[in-house]
Amino acid sequence: MTRPNFFEHLHPPTIPAREARFIYTFGLGGMSLFLFLFLSLIVTGVPLMFVYVPTAVSAADSIRAIAYVAPFGWLLPNLHYWAAVLLLLTVGFHMLRVVFSGSYKRPRRFNWLLGLVTLLLSLLLSFSGYVLRWDVDTFGALTAGTHIVQQFPLIGGWFYGLLVGGPDISDATVIRFYTWHTLGLSVPVLLLMGWHVFRVRRDGGISHRSSVASPQSPLSHKPPRIPRRKLVQREGVAMLALLCLLFALSLFWDAPLAVPANPLAGPLAATADIAAPWFFLWVQALLRRLSPLLAGIVIPLGVALVLALLPWTLDRETEGTAVWFHPAGRRAQVVVIVITIGIIGLTLWEWLG
Ligand code: HEM
Repeated sequence: MTRPNFFEHLHPPTIPAREARFIYTFGLGGMSLFLFLFLSLIVTGVPLMFVYVPTAVSAADSIRAIAYVAPFGWLLPNLHYWAAVLLLLTVGFHMLRVVFSGSYKRPRRFNWLLGLVTLLLSLLLSFSGYVLRWDVDTFGALTAGTHIVQQFPLIGGWFYGLLVGGPDISDATVIRFYTWHTLGLSVPVLLLMGWHVFRVRRDGGISHRSSVASPQSPLSHKPPRIPRRKLVQREGVAMLALLCLLFALSLFWDAPLAVPANPLAGPLAATADIAAPWFFLWVQALLRRLSPLLAGIVIPLGVALVLALLPWTLDRETEGTAVWFHPAGRRAQVVVIVITIGIIGLTLWEWLG
């Protein structure tokens, strides 16, 4: 018998056949890991670090220069951008899969929290990357974002100084966002993802229905299992498909870049409109209608809190684990559907309007 390779070691020797089917997890957790680790971080992120110049005057031009100085320079920023977009989408769908298949229940409640924190930090990581483009769009978002931060009761001023590195946006701001992006957020996200995946095994593998004992056959019926090699082969196919999609997107659609921003040259902050990245368009829609405190802090944190406490409040039962849309989890499912529709609706409203 051949010895298991590195990827096989990530799984237990056998996996319940029903839950190992692609249409149970859709491979979304594994895809998120692959997108972050190999594509955002190692294949595209690290090479970009060699060329990016984190100063207010040169940042935007250095991104344009990458096309001329780095091998496949025209492709690198595109791959980095689309990997980040796909990452947020796969994580979002992964979370929905976990909710609708009742996989957040005990003993996976802690892992639900770990996943959520990783998602929140991934959003901040993406925002810090968006700011590094340092064009007029990102400068508008940065101005709005740092204004929101100032609304935090008691710590707002201190928080603003920590992010911006002084009273005004300057070179110090770019260096801070660069350090947050390449170290302060990416390393915690990396560690949290590792912990999250480790916890999947620690919690007994991917959620599965417990053995069923019926009055006719009092002995538990043991569900069939497949060897991990088979699962790794399926994962390999899913990653290849993802890679093809990523290259197709990167070849046909360039990562967006607007006119470079130079805050040292004039009163840009006064004229720039908010231009939030796509994943915060729903917050931008709220900002146009509500106060920055409500739209930027109270509502987003409220949504995160409702989601975080979901397995402790809306559905504390273990019944219905690994069953799609089980009635035991109805309240949790409805709340998540309402939140999802709200976020998508506001995003489309802002995008189309
Ligand atoms: C941020 C990046 C994330 C990565 C890389 C990731 C990765 C994974 C992987 C590889 C699995 C096992 C296979 C699968 O279910 O697809 C998994 C399971 C799980 N994830 Fe995530 N995940 C992430 C985010 C999240 C989020 C945002 C949540 C929920 C808020 C979450 C909650 C869970 C739970 C509860 C399980 C166990 C599911 C089960 O056993 O069926 N994860 N994750």
